[in-house]
Amino acid sequence: MQSVNWDQFLVPYQIAVDELKVKLKAVRKQFKSQNDHSPIEFVTGRVKPVGSILEKAKRKNIADHELATDMQDIAGLRIMCQFVDDIVHVLDLLHRRTDFKIVEERNYITHQKDSGYRSYHVIIEYPVQTIHGEIPTLVEVQIRTLAMNFWATIEHSLNYKYDGDMPLEVQERLRRAAEAAFLLDAEMSQLRVEIQDAQQVFRDKEMNVKTDED
Ligand code: GTP
Ligand code: MG
Repeated sequence: MQSVNWDQFLVPYQIAVDELKVKLKAVRKQFKSQNDHSPIEFVTGRVKPVGSILEKAKRKNIADHELATDMQDIAGLRIMCQFVDDIVHVLDLLHRRTDFKIVEERNYITHQKDSGYRSYHVIIEYPVQTIHGEIPTLVEVQIRTLAMNFWATIEHSLNYKYDGDMPLEVQERLRRAAEAAFLLDAEMSQLRVEIQDAQQVFRDKEMNVKTDED
């Protein structure tokens, strides 16, 4: 059996990540240019390294020819939001777009994982234009608050450190930290109106400074 030519195989995924990053950053820019609160705080993206693809394929028993359909996170984007309500807004924006199709949604916010993980996952099918024609490419978009992201980043590092064999006591601490992150999100939602008023005052001031400089 012929093995995968990784450079070639990953081309559409890299294009998808690059293009979607630009497009999602443009969403933020539009809100900013309207002088509005952006539901998108920042966006990151990556193509899964070949080593991780191979490890996951083995773990999930995915054959080479099934990778494009069965491994949905070879291309991955993350959208970070200030508030939980922003996630709903981002979802609405994604649903209304016509440049890709949403094929799956996983709500790990209302259905938190046992680890404590929270995020909203959307799998999209993004048509990538290549020199060989259009390639429909699956991309996993994770939408989360800054607090959810903080937790997931720390948990991921610890998982890596313990190589999947995390002591029960650390797992328990992480669950408590997840609870604290949840409470932080809830507090921030309540503070939202006040925070937004403050941000508006700040933006107005900024605008005044800019016009003063002109
Ligand atoms: P993998 O978890 O990647 O093997 O894929 P899956 O097919 O089980 O999908 P799932 O929706 O469970 O997870 C997809 C992605 O979500 C992962 O690759 C991580 O980026 C993230 N994720 C899921 N669970 C956790 C978790 O407990 N902790 C952290 N830090 N991230 C998680
Ligand atoms: Mg998983």
